[in-house]
Amino acid sequence: MDRTGSLIKGDIRRAFTYLESGPVVLVTTHTAERDDIMSISWMMVMDYEAHIAISTGPWNESYQRILDTKECAVCVPGADLLDAAVRIGTVNGSEEDKFAANHLTRTPGEVVQAPLIDECLACLECRLETVYPDRGLLIFSTERLWENPGRSERRTFHANGDGTFFADGEFYYRRDAMKKWVPEGCERFGKKQP
Ligand SMILES: Cc1cc2nc3c(=O)[nH]c(=O)nc-3n(C[C@H](O)[C@H](O)[C@H](O)COP(=O)(O)O)c2cc1C
Repeated sequence: MDRTGSLIKGDIRRAFTYLESGPVVLVTTHTAERDDIMSISWMMVMDYEAHIAISTGPWNESYQRILDTKECAVCVPGADLLDAAVRIGTVNGSEEDKFAANHLTRTPGEVVQAPLIDECLACLECRLETVYPDRGLLIFSTERLWENPGRSERRTFHANGDGTFFADGEFYYRRDAMKKWVPEGCERFGKKQP
Protein backbone atom coordinates (compact mmCIF):
# COMPACT_ATOMS: atom_id res chain seq x y z
CA MET A 1 0.00 0.00 0.00
CA ASP A 2 1.36 3.46 -0.89
CA ARG A 3 1.56 6.17 1.72
CA THR A 4 -0.08 8.72 -0.59
CA GLY A 5 -3.09 9.85 1.44
CA SER A 6 -3.71 12.97 3.46
CA LEU A 7 -2.99 11.56 6.95
CA ILE A 8 0.26 12.92 8.38
CA LYS A 9 2.15 11.69 11.40
CA GLY A 10 1.08 13.51 14.58
CA ASP A 11 2.60 14.14 17.99
CA ILE A 12 1.60 11.12 20.08
CA ARG A 13 1.26 13.38 23.16
CA ARG A 14 -2.09 14.55 21.78
CA ALA A 15 -3.38 11.13 20.67
CA PHE A 16 -5.63 10.82 23.75
CA THR A 17 -7.30 14.17 22.97
CA TYR A 18 -9.00 12.62 19.93
CA LEU A 19 -10.77 10.07 22.17
CA GLU A 20 -11.34 11.85 25.49
CA SER A 21 -14.62 13.30 24.19
CA GLY A 22 -15.95 9.80 23.45
CA PRO A 23 -16.58 9.86 19.69
CA VAL A 24 -17.82 6.92 17.65
CA VAL A 25 -14.69 5.32 16.18
CA LEU A 26 -13.95 3.00 13.27
CA VAL A 27 -11.71 0.09 14.23
CA THR A 28 -9.82 -1.57 11.38
CA THR A 29 -8.14 -4.98 11.22
CA HIS A 30 -6.05 -6.82 8.66
CA THR A 31 -5.55 -10.52 7.94
CA ALA A 32 -4.30 -12.33 4.82
CA GLU A 33 -7.97 -12.95 4.02
CA ARG A 34 -9.13 -9.31 4.04
CA ASP A 35 -9.30 -5.93 5.73
CA ASP A 36 -12.30 -5.14 7.91
CA ILE A 37 -13.83 -2.22 9.80
CA MET A 38 -16.27 -2.15 12.72
CA SER A 39 -17.95 0.84 14.39
CA ILE A 40 -17.43 1.20 18.12
CA SER A 41 -19.10 3.52 20.59
CA TRP A 42 -18.26 1.57 23.79
CA MET A 43 -14.77 3.01 23.99
CA MET A 44 -12.79 5.05 26.47
CA VAL A 45 -9.31 6.52 26.67
CA MET A 46 -7.63 5.50 29.93
CA ASP A 47 -4.62 7.82 30.32
CA TYR A 48 -2.44 10.46 28.66
CA GLU A 49 -0.48 7.76 26.77
CA ALA A 50 -3.77 6.86 25.09
CA HIS A 51 -4.29 3.38 26.41
CA ILE A 52 -7.74 2.55 25.06
CA ALA A 53 -10.47 0.23 26.34
CA ILE A 54 -13.04 -1.18 23.91
CA SER A 55 -16.01 -3.33 24.82
CA THR A 56 -16.97 -5.82 22.12
CA GLY A 57 -17.61 -9.52 21.58
CA PRO A 58 -17.87 -12.58 19.33
CA TRP A 59 -20.94 -11.25 17.45
CA ASN A 60 -18.40 -9.11 15.57
CA GLU A 61 -15.97 -10.76 13.16
CA SER A 62 -13.46 -8.08 14.15
CA TYR A 63 -13.35 -9.42 17.73
CA GLN A 64 -11.62 -12.71 16.78
CA ARG A 65 -9.49 -10.89 14.21
CA ILE A 66 -8.15 -8.61 16.95
CA LEU A 67 -7.51 -11.56 19.27
CA ASP A 68 -5.62 -13.32 16.44
CA THR A 69 -3.56 -10.37 15.19
CA LYS A 70 -3.24 -8.52 18.54
CA GLU A 71 -3.55 -5.16 16.81
CA CYS A 72 -5.91 -2.71 15.15
CA ALA A 73 -6.18 0.92 14.06
CA VAL A 74 -8.66 3.17 15.88
CA CYS A 75 -9.82 5.84 13.42
CA VAL A 76 -11.87 8.92 14.34
CA PRO A 77 -14.44 9.87 11.69
CA GLY A 78 -15.86 13.35 11.26
CA ALA A 79 -19.62 13.91 11.18
CA ASP A 80 -19.50 13.65 7.37
CA LEU A 81 -18.87 9.90 7.85
CA LEU A 82 -21.89 9.27 10.10
CA ASP A 83 -23.83 7.25 7.50
CA ALA A 84 -20.71 5.26 6.62
CA ALA A 85 -20.23 4.43 10.33
CA VAL A 86 -23.84 3.24 10.59
CA ARG A 87 -23.47 0.99 7.54
CA ILE A 88 -20.07 -0.31 8.75
CA GLY A 89 -21.66 -1.14 12.06
CA THR A 90 -24.66 -3.00 10.63
CA VAL A 91 -22.89 -5.33 8.18
CA ASN A 92 -20.26 -8.04 8.75
CA GLY A 93 -16.97 -7.84 6.90
CA SER A 94 -17.51 -11.26 5.28
CA GLU A 95 -20.64 -9.82 3.61
CA GLU A 96 -19.00 -6.89 1.84
CA ASP A 97 -15.73 -5.00 1.46
CA LYS A 98 -16.53 -2.11 3.80
CA PHE A 99 -13.82 0.12 2.34
CA ALA A 100 -15.28 -0.17 -1.17
CA ALA A 101 -18.92 -0.06 -0.03
CA ASN A 102 -18.35 3.17 1.92
CA HIS A 103 -15.89 4.82 -0.50
CA LEU A 104 -13.12 4.80 2.10
CA THR A 105 -9.44 4.81 1.21
CA ARG A 106 -7.09 2.47 3.04
CA THR A 107 -3.60 3.70 3.64
CA PRO A 108 -0.76 1.97 5.53
CA GLY A 109 0.46 2.80 8.99
CA GLU A 110 3.95 2.13 10.25
CA VAL A 111 3.58 -0.21 13.19
CA VAL A 112 0.52 -2.37 12.64
CA GLN A 113 -0.80 -4.15 9.54
CA ALA A 114 -4.33 -2.84 10.08
CA PRO A 115 -5.01 -0.12 7.50
CA LEU A 116 -5.62 3.54 8.34
CA ILE A 117 -8.69 5.26 6.88
CA ASP A 118 -7.58 8.28 4.92
CA GLU A 119 -10.93 10.12 5.22
CA CYS A 120 -10.81 10.13 9.04
CA LEU A 121 -9.70 13.03 11.24
CA ALA A 122 -7.16 10.86 13.02
CA CYS A 123 -6.02 7.24 13.22
CA LEU A 124 -4.22 5.62 16.13
CA GLU A 125 -2.13 2.50 15.53
CA CYS A 126 -2.83 0.22 18.46
CA ARG A 127 -1.46 -3.01 19.92
CA LEU A 128 -3.59 -5.31 22.06
CA GLU A 129 -2.23 -5.39 25.62
CA THR A 130 -4.85 -7.07 27.82
CA VAL A 131 -8.07 -9.04 27.25
CA TYR A 132 -10.84 -9.57 29.79
CA PRO A 133 -12.81 -12.20 27.82
CA ASP A 134 -15.70 -12.50 30.29
CA ARG A 135 -16.70 -8.92 29.52
CA GLY A 136 -15.25 -8.64 26.00
CA LEU A 137 -13.01 -5.87 27.25
CA LEU A 138 -9.94 -5.19 25.12
CA ILE A 139 -7.19 -2.83 26.24
CA PHE A 140 -4.75 -1.38 23.71
CA SER A 141 -1.61 0.71 23.80
CA THR A 142 -1.30 3.45 21.18
CA GLU A 143 1.92 3.35 19.15
CA ARG A 144 1.44 6.07 16.51
CA LEU A 145 -0.90 8.98 15.81
CA TRP A 146 -1.87 10.05 12.29
CA GLU A 147 -3.83 13.28 11.79
CA ASN A 148 -5.71 14.78 8.90
CA PRO A 149 -5.71 18.58 9.13
CA GLY A 150 -7.16 18.84 5.61
CA ARG A 151 -10.69 17.63 6.46
CA SER A 152 -13.14 20.53 6.42
CA GLU A 153 -15.67 18.72 8.70
CA ARG A 154 -13.90 18.88 12.09
CA ARG A 155 -16.81 17.70 14.29
CA THR A 156 -16.78 14.17 15.66
CA PHE A 157 -20.07 12.45 16.56
CA HIS A 158 -21.39 10.53 19.52
CA ALA A 159 -23.90 7.68 19.77
CA ASN A 160 -26.81 7.90 22.20
CA GLY A 161 -27.38 4.16 21.85
CA ASP A 162 -30.97 4.48 20.64
CA GLY A 163 -30.18 5.01 16.97
CA THR A 164 -29.67 8.76 17.40
CA PHE A 165 -26.42 10.73 17.45
CA PHE A 166 -25.02 14.10 18.47
CA ALA A 167 -22.29 15.88 16.53
CA ASP A 168 -19.86 18.04 18.57
CA GLY A 169 -21.55 21.20 19.77
CA GLU A 170 -20.38 24.33 21.49
CA PHE A 171 -16.69 24.78 22.34
CA TYR A 172 -15.49 26.07 25.74
CA TYR A 173 -11.92 27.18 26.49
CA ARG A 174 -10.90 26.45 30.11
CA ARG A 175 -7.25 25.50 29.61
CA ASP A 176 -5.87 27.98 32.16
CA ALA A 177 -8.11 26.64 34.93
CA MET A 178 -7.41 23.04 33.81
CA LYS A 179 -3.62 23.56 33.69
CA LYS A 180 -2.97 20.92 36.38
CA TRP A 181 -4.52 18.25 34.14
CA VAL A 182 -3.23 19.37 30.74
CA PRO A 183 0.10 17.72 29.92
CA GLU A 184 2.53 19.73 27.82
CA GLY A 185 2.31 19.06 24.10
CA CYS A 186 -1.26 17.75 24.01
CA GLU A 187 -2.86 21.07 22.98
CA ARG A 188 -4.91 20.47 19.85
CA PHE A 189 -7.32 23.43 19.88
CA GLY A 190 -6.79 27.18 20.19
CA LYS A 191 -9.01 29.55 22.17
CA LYS A 192 -11.68 29.81 19.49
CA GLN A 193 -14.16 27.23 18.25
CA PRO A 194 -12.44 25.39 15.38
C1 LIG B 1 -22.82 3.48 15.82
C2 LIG B 1 -22.45 2.07 16.15
C3 LIG B 1 -21.72 1.80 17.29
C4 LIG B 1 -21.35 0.49 17.62
N1 LIG B 1 -20.66 0.26 18.76
C5 LIG B 1 -20.30 -1.01 19.08
C6 LIG B 1 -19.55 -1.26 20.27
O1 LIG B 1 -19.18 -0.35 21.01
N2 LIG B 1 -19.24 -2.54 20.55
C7 LIG B 1 -19.60 -3.58 19.74
O2 LIG B 1 -19.27 -4.72 20.05
N3 LIG B 1 -20.31 -3.37 18.61
C8 LIG B 1 -20.65 -2.11 18.26
N4 LIG B 1 -21.35 -1.88 17.10
C9 LIG B 1 -21.68 -3.02 16.22
C10 LIG B 1 -20.54 -3.42 15.27
O3 LIG B 1 -19.92 -2.30 14.66
C11 LIG B 1 -21.14 -4.34 14.19
O4 LIG B 1 -21.56 -5.56 14.79
C12 LIG B 1 -20.27 -4.58 12.98
O5 LIG B 1 -21.09 -5.02 11.93
C13 LIG B 1 -19.16 -5.59 13.20
O6 LIG B 1 -18.49 -5.78 11.99
P1 LIG B 1 -17.59 -7.07 11.71
O7 LIG B 1 -18.46 -8.27 11.93
O8 LIG B 1 -17.15 -6.90 10.28
O9 LIG B 1 -16.47 -7.01 12.69
C14 LIG B 1 -21.73 -0.58 16.76
C15 LIG B 1 -22.48 -0.31 15.61
C16 LIG B 1 -22.83 1.00 15.30
C17 LIG B 1 -23.62 1.27 14.06
